Amino acid sequence: MSTRGEKHFIKFPKFAANLYDYLMSAKAIRFQINEIAEYLVSKIHQGRLLDVGTGHGRLLIAINKLNPKIELYGLDISESMIQLARKNLAGIPVDIRWGNIRKSDYNDNFFDIVTCTGSFYLWDHPEEGLEEIYRILKFNHSTYLFETYREHDKEKVRKALKSSLRQENLFIRLFGPFSLKKQLSMTYKIPEIESIIKKTSFKNSYKINKITLSGLPIWLRIELKKSN
Ligand SMILES: C[S@@+](CC[C@H](N)C(=O)[O-])C[C@H]1O[C@@H](n2cnc3c(N)ncnc32)[C@H](O)[C@@H]1O
Repeated sequence: MSTRGEKHFIKFPKFAANLYDYLMSAKAIRFQINEIAEYLVSKIHQGRLLDVGTGHGRLLIAINKLNPKIELYGLDISESMIQLARKNLAGIPVDIRWGNIRKSDYNDNFFDIVTCTGSFYLWDHPEEGLEEIYRILKFNHSTYLFETYREHDKEKVRKALKSSLRQENLFIRLFGPFSLKKQLSMTYKIPEIESIIKKTSFKNSYKINKITLSGLPIWLRIELKKSN
């Protein structure tokens, strides 16, 4: 079977995870992570939060800084990313697990909030992944996916990226745009995301908002609510 990205990440070598981590230390990405963290802590004051496809784990660190009362959980399909997240999160109480969101081992109705940044577009079975999130989320609670989308305004993005890269070092100026271009070439169009959601138990309660993160108008905030 062809893969959207899972197989690539399952075998992600350690050096590639470290390189990815370095790219993610860019000022613009740190700003983006803080913006997402601030949004999430405005939605939950305590309880359990799961970050699906947590990667380097930096979102969990930012959430912990803003509100240490939130219980943190991270899931990722890549062993090298899990190792990286454990290293980055050293000293912070967190449950980091290896696993595929298609089928996790969390209990039913366990989480107060589930989030995911830049991972959904890589899932080989997105409907099953969303259905699993539905199962592990508490009733009347929401999941927030932060995803890029393909039909963004390319000219606006080119200008925003040019200005944002000015503050970065040479390495990030060279490799950052390459990594972003790859992501944007794989990411979904909004109607494709809607058609996936409509095949899941979230079909009657979802919202998709176009947002700008760290000055880049390429993002969607997808809110999916588990309602009775
Ligand atoms: C592009 S990285 C994003 C990491 C981080 N969330 C960020 O914002 O930088 C995507 C992550 O999703 C993970 N991933 C991909 N498919 C997954 C799945 N089905 N279940 C759990 N994690 C998955 C990958 O291993 C990778 O760490």
